[in-house]
Amino acid sequence: MTEPSAKQHKPDPCSFVIFGATGDLTHRLVIPALYNLAASDLLPEKFCVVGIARKGMSSDEMRDSLMKGLRQYKTRPIEDAIAKRLLECVTCIEADPKDPNSFDSMRERLEKLEANRSTGGNRLFYLATPPVAFAPIAKQLGRAGMLKEEGGAWRRLVVEKPFGTDLASAKALNDELLKIVEEHQIYRIDHYLGKETVQNILVLRFANGMFEPIWNRNHIDHVQITVDEKIGVGHRGSFYDSTGALRDMVPNHLFQLLSLVAMEPPVKFNAHAVRTEKAEVLAAIQTQSEEEALKNSVRGQYQTGKSGETETPDYRKTEDVKPDSTTETYAALKLTIDNWRWAGVPFYLRTGKALGVKRTEVAIKFKQAPFAMFRETPVDRLSQNYLVIAIEPTEGITLQFNTKVPGPTINIDGVEMKFRYKDYFQAEPTTGYETLIYDCMIGDNILFQRADSVEAGWQAVQPFLDAWKKAGAKGLEFYKAGSEGPEAADGLLKRDGRNWRKLG
Ligand code: BG6
Repeated sequence: MTEPSAKQHKPDPCSFVIFGATGDLTHRLVIPALYNLAASDLLPEKFCVVGIARKGMSSDEMRDSLMKGLRQYKTRPIEDAIAKRLLECVTCIEADPKDPNSFDSMRERLEKLEANRSTGGNRLFYLATPPVAFAPIAKQLGRAGMLKEEGGAWRRLVVEKPFGTDLASAKALNDELLKIVEEHQIYRIDHYLGKETVQNILVLRFANGMFEPIWNRNHIDHVQITVDEKIGVGHRGSFYDSTGALRDMVPNHLFQLLSLVAMEPPVKFNAHAVRTEKAEVLAAIQTQSEEEALKNSVRGQYQTGKSGETETPDYRKTEDVKPDSTTETYAALKLTIDNWRWAGVPFYLRTGKALGVKRTEVAIKFKQAPFAMFRETPVDRLSQNYLVIAIEPTEGITLQFNTKVPGPTINIDGVEMKFRYKDYFQAEPTTGYETLIYDCMIGDNILFQRADSVEAGWQAVQPFLDAWKKAGAKGLEFYKAGSEGPEAADGLLKRDGRNWRKLG
């Protein structure tokens, strides 16, 4: 997240090489984001896009397909001249990691293209492929000498999620990549960091003097992080059934939110300082025993149900899902962070599919007033003091507090102070990838995950993965699609005398 004034400059000339150019991610997000950057005049003057395809496809065919995607997934009206200029930069090159020769010819073609376009040899390789292909592609790029930074040219590797499927595989992937490139060349994407509201957590905490003094165990009772989705698994059954809600959402997206909320103030606003503090706080999440993990978690799976008019069929009846699958589509966890700031402050996390509302938020619950002075108003009638950072679909911040109801006696009621982005700022709708792609091109990796953060995230969820795997069907709760999730998730907080915030 570069500061606004620094944002204005155009990136260095470069080639933008996409592996998985025929795939969904490229069509849905990468090309529309490049279009938006082009429309804001934030693409390099000298630029080329190389789409890597495994089976022979002409550049014209690739351009047509990307144009169709752009029309379908655009976030703003398309100006033909801008789209034309962008697509004219696209060249399709064939390369298959199983065929090393194809990478040697790819290098030759790329070098010719770079000479024609005067990109100076700067290259960004974007791996928008299934994760099994990350290491083989990087290996071939490395072997063919395409990743070596030489003659002043930079070479960067953008890796999509999921980064590993557990601690061991994430470590193995980091080790593989770090044999080929240096850490500063790797940009591990988590699209949550492209969201304005997520980036704003840093600004809220560190550009205001009033929050930091109370941002600790003396004043905060607990933190709730919620990422609830209305959509079910849809056509992603094959990916999802071997993944589940925990792997899909927690070590990446929910932990991004957790680390921004819980990290110590970095000494500088630069990638090294910010990413070090984020990694530190993730590493401080207490590693639970499997027994503790079972006690401190709830997992659920949705069954047929309705949300509004839409009926979502039973998860087990989803295409490519095993009929007796025990994969969780809902996960709730209680975590603690072992440091001075957070000792004794639980962090409750929940995420699920096919729920009644779509809502992403971080709710910080402050402690009750220490002394119940207004004796006529029982404490349980007092509104709770929450600071709610609303990420999606509402974007803003809400502070809940108590106030006197006008009248001759002291009657107290809860009210809300609300900030909504849309009331203050008229931002163009985006894909959420613009900042991330732009930052890769200017070499700012503050919004990307470092190896140690990724591993610390997996380390914290590993006991849950292990315990759930051993437990199999035992302990799997069921919930109706369109509901608030399994009832047992309420129990996780109730036994601590707390409640989840009611959502919408
Ligand atoms: C993706 C997950 O990373 O994030 C999806 O694979 C999930 O399962 C999505 O739906 C949620 O992203 P967002 O931005 O809609 O909260």
